[in-house]
Amino acid sequence: MDGRVCMITGANSGIGKATAVGLAKMGASVVMVCRDRQRGEAAMAEIKAASGHQKVDLLLADLSSQASVRQLAQAFKARYPQLHVLINNAGIALGKRSLTIDGIETVFAVNYLAPFLLTHLLLDVLKASAPARVVNVAGDYHRRASINFDDLMSEQNYSRLRANNQAKLALILFTYELARRLDGTGVTANCLHPGAVATDAPSKDPDTSALARLMYKLVKPFFLSPEKGAETSIYLASSPQVEQVTGQYFIKKAPVPSSPESYDGAIAGRLWEVSVELTGLTA
Ligand SMILES: NC(=O)c1ccc[n+]([C@@H]2O[C@H](COP(=O)([O-])OP(=O)(O)OC[C@H]3O[C@@H](n4cnc5c(N)ncnc54)[C@H](OP(=O)(O)O)[C@@H]3O)[C@@H](O)[C@H]2O)c1
Repeated sequence: MDGRVCMITGANSGIGKATAVGLAKMGASVVMVCRDRQRGEAAMAEIKAASGHQKVDLLLADLSSQASVRQLAQAFKARYPQLHVLINNAGIALGKRSLTIDGIETVFAVNYLAPFLLTHLLLDVLKASAPARVVNVAGDYHRRASINFDDLMSEQNYSRLRANNQAKLALILFTYELARRLDGTGVTANCLHPGAVATDAPSKDPDTSALARLMYKLVKPFFLSPEKGAETSIYLASSPQVEQVTGQYFIKKAPVPSSPESYDGAIAGRLWEVSVELTGLTA
């Protein structure tokens, strides 16, 4: 991975941080995207120490804000002429529905629309750097979801799982549609489920109930370590075995079928159009 530039969103904790360490160890030039300078700088120091590699950079962005995503793409392009791997890893799960500064339901905005927008804004540099890869961190609970075009923002029916699962299904539909549209460009797009990974995600949400916190504490020892959870992201970002592979969903470094709805081209096409509108992209 020497000389390969890899951007990882949400790289200050959990799976994203472990992915950054793994790719830095392979010699990649890692660009972390984090929303908080202090947490980002602390993680950057850890990643450098753990990998023994100094080519780790930090860009700040709040992915819930489309203006911030646009600034991130600009800031990246001002610093780097090439991008070989984009890992859309950042994600949140929220117990209470909230809206972003752009008026979009927050989980849908961070877990799906931000990857959609960021990938589009970086597509020119990805194509110019081909062979290049887009890796989207989804989740297996997408199987329980359906895209509800009448209530994409979960106004009528919100729950932590519903919002997260719909956003992850949207991310998978986007990955497959992107792979189709990028055919022949040398840029691949794949997505993955990292497994059930022990991270701090549940404790970050102030609306996680005491009971849910207790239950998570009890099951956490049985979950995968972030290092183990990062293995498929690292594999998709770096392995020569998947250099030509695109439009697939992976678990434990192996392609597996995702839900039937995730393969629906009509839904993917409609979602793409809605997402272009919601992000103000012109194409
Ligand atoms: N853990 C699991 O079992 C599991 C299972 C399936 C899928 N996943 C997916 O794996 C990915 C990584 O999750 P994780 O478990 O490693 O959780 P995590 O430790 O909470 O990592 C999530 C990362 O996303 C960042 N993030 C959240 N909102 C952001 C925003 N508005 N702007 C910028 N960054 C933001 C977080 O930053 P802060 O630290 O500042 O909050 C953090 O760095 C997520 O997409 C998650 O949905 C995880």
